[in-house]
Amino acid sequence: MAEVVAEREFALNLKERREQVKMDRSALADLLEISTDRLADWENGRGLENLTLQEMSRLAETLGTSIGALAPEAENDLENGALYQLPDQRSVLKGVRGGTDYYVYHCLVRTRTAPSMVPLVVDVLVDDPKEAKFNDGHAGSEFIFVLEGEVHMMWGDPENPNETVLPTGSSLYLEPYVRHAFTATEGSGGARLLAVNF
Ligand SMILES: [Fe+2]
Repeated sequence: MAEVVAEREFALNLKERREQVKMDRSALADLLEISTDRLADWENGRGLENLTLQEMSRLAETLGTSIGALAPEAENDLENGALYQLPDQRSVLKGVRGGTDYYVYHCLVRTRTAPSMVPLVVDVLVDDPKEAKFNDGHAGSEFIFVLEGEVHMMWGDPENPNETVLPTGSSLYLEPYVRHAFTATEGSGGARLLAVNF
């Protein structure tokens, strides 16, 4: 039921935004390289369950807006504008890569009001850069702050990576989809980061 309401709201936002930017259906359909019928379906709340993230971001971009603005308004989980998480409310996840315990993730506060914000404290368990395991990059930007220890960071092409050493107190920004890997520096016994995806 909630799903149906959400789809109707998305459909209405889509139509409203298209009209706001004074585009008719066929013009928008042409820009998106889809049929006018398909667009009409979306605007009537049909076939939205098959909309891929890529199509959604293309749609938002073409209409000069964001997915967030088209998406239904998130249920408010704030208390007078704030949401807090106490230390004992953190969930802890193990990050295993290639069969080795690689990271421990301490999940910090998250809110439906800003769903793309994912803050984590990350224990970096491996202290040998030769054991670095690259991820595939991810959607969203990333902010890193080195809380403890010294981090060896690699990024870009795993075959020919960029490398640097980040001592405690360093901070970093990473663009979406840039592949990266962190270990602690060799023999240092581990490190700890604050990572915020947003
Ligand atoms: Fe990351």
